[in-house]
Amino acid sequence: MNLTSYLGIQHPILLAPMAGVSTPQLAATVSNQGGLGALGLGSSTLDHAIEQIKHTKQLTKKPFQLNFFCHKEFDLDIEKEKVWIEFLSKEFSRLGKSPPNQLNKLYSSFTNNEDFTNMVLDIKPRAISFHFGLPSKKQIDALKSAGIITMVSITQLSEALEAQSYGIDILIAQGIEAGGHRGIFNENNDPAIFTKDLVQALIENPAVTLPIVAAGGLMTGKDIREIIDLGASAAQLGTAFLTCAESAANQNYKKALLESNYTQITRSISGRPARGLFSHWHTDIDILEKPEDPGYPFTYDIAKQLNMLDPINFPIYWAGCNVSKIRPLDASALMQTLISEMN
Ligand SMILES: Cc1cc2nc3c(=O)[nH]c(=O)nc-3n(C[C@H](O)[C@H](O)[C@H](O)COP(=O)(O)O)c2cc1C
Repeated sequence: MNLTSYLGIQHPILLAPMAGVSTPQLAATVSNQGGLGALGLGSSTLDHAIEQIKHTKQLTKKPFQLNFFCHKEFDLDIEKEKVWIEFLSKEFSRLGKSPPNQLNKLYSSFTNNEDFTNMVLDIKPRAISFHFGLPSKKQIDALKSAGIITMVSITQLSEALEAQSYGIDILIAQGIEAGGHRGIFNENNDPAIFTKDLVQALIENPAVTLPIVAAGGLMTGKDIREIIDLGASAAQLGTAFLTCAESAANQNYKKALLESNYTQITRSISGRPARGLFSHWHTDIDILEKPEDPGYPFTYDIAKQLNMLDPINFPIYWAGCNVSKIRPLDASALMQTLISEMN
């Protein structure tokens, strides 16, 4: 299958959907330059999602993808909540504040969410992608019947085969180098495979028949060419676009991206493992005596509060491990550079 014509794009370059960082301007610029733009809507309300999609449609007539989170939902364990709040309370005291009394579920999963499903069926984007797992088979069937291409982040062979058996159309093979959250379906099962190894393992496995988009640590057109030569049909880049003028990352985040070389994965920020710039979270919170956190997205609630109070010590700056190769270009210049390097 020729993935670019299937997706209706000119170049095998996908902008990673990035909740909180994606903007209509960034998505539309990548699409207008012949790649596939993306809106990360996993943390958006229904109204905000509709607004972002409408705005993007005003800026481009080209296809783009929508992205949602399919994490498993569970009831908050009150004991874990109490112990986690207590563990972080010294940080609130240091800032002269009281910790919250309870943790809130910040976002709902797309899985079995009728409002979001109906909105997507109504809007009919070219493609939709999922992170943290799969929606229900019924949802996938409905999306496919509406002519929408379905994609999911996978990090290992078992997830690839599960996605395939559910009828997903394209696999996004996310390697351990990737910035932001690991797309693992089961947060306790991360084999931490490098992007190239994962692509190769999928390509060489005869049971895997779906096209593969590689994601994780890809920063240049040369990186894209190499992964396509290995057998991937396209590449999805997130970190490379974070410093673009069109990204919603704030100035401190952009400055830190340009000055930092090191990233690390932690689950202490959100309750799911995610890679970001090295900080106080990794040195002072991820300590030996750390209790078990209450889990995604409850853990994220208190992290966001600490981040608001003290963004210097508690930054939430997601980034991939090749952040030192970031180039401060606007999105059309970056696309042009990637395309010419790739060719
Ligand atoms: C700031 C940021 C936010 C992200 N948010 C999402 C998201 O909302 N949905 C998603 O599927 N992936 C998300 N990701 C992961 C990307 O889809 C992709 O796997 C990753 O960016 C690839 O690695 P790279 O950052 O090294 O290019 C995010 C990545 C970053 C850097």
